[in-house]
Amino acid sequence: DKKITIAIDGYSSTGKSTVAKQLAKELGYIYVDTGAMYRAVTLYVMRKLFVTDTNFDEESILRHLPFINLKFVFDEELGHGEIYLNKENVEKEIRLLEVSKHVSKVSALPKVREMLVKLQKEMGKDKGVVMDGRDIGTVVFPDADLKIFMTASTEKRAERRYKELMEKGENISYDEILENVKERDYLDTTRKDSPLRKADDAIEVDNSNMSLEEQYEKVVKLAKDKI
Ligand code: C5P
Repeated sequence: DKKITIAIDGYSSTGKSTVAKQLAKELGYIYVDTGAMYRAVTLYVMRKLFVTDTNFDEESILRHLPFINLKFVFDEELGHGEIYLNKENVEKEIRLLEVSKHVSKVSALPKVREMLVKLQKEMGKDKGVVMDGRDIGTVVFPDADLKIFMTASTEKRAERRYKELMEKGENISYDEILENVKERDYLDTTRKDSPLRKADDAIEVDNSNMSLEEQYEKVVKLAKDKI
């Protein structure tokens, strides 16, 4: 079997990472969650600079970038990697709504993207990789062997995210999540540098009315057809 590169892009909370993780496991590939990388950078500058909507100083953020070290460490038991920010496992903390609220603004900075895209290209250079994000099929691996673009209705996505965060014990309202999903969609699709869009050669999968198993089956079939 030849090793291929699989790019999975789409809006927030479409379930990209769940499917991507499972697919990588099945194929014995590396899984890279690029959203986790943008989230970890955001967490770092939030801690250092108390970044908020009104306290957002691009210059200071950029000055901190050289001090950020990101790494995925594979966890045998989980079957996938977890993200480490300067040697600290931040997998849980980066999923908090506080981080989701600021991540799209930090991700829009070209210097941040440049730094992370470089790392992502390096991680996928030997192929045998499933990478999910917003710009994988358009910018990181424009020559990916398989590109999938996941979509679902805004309400469905907010509902899923709400359930997920409730299960983790975060105390937030559905409306707050819906608002965050809409806001991130808007910022991610309208930013100047690498906006979220479907690559011309990507296959669109609308999973509004699909179960996880159905999505997974569909994606595995698409991948196996290419290998
Ligand atoms: O995938 P996830 O929802 O965790 O991504 C969080 C945020 O990181 C996105 O809303 C987007 O602003 C940013 N992101 C990005 N490019 C990627 C992956 C994520 O700009 N490749």
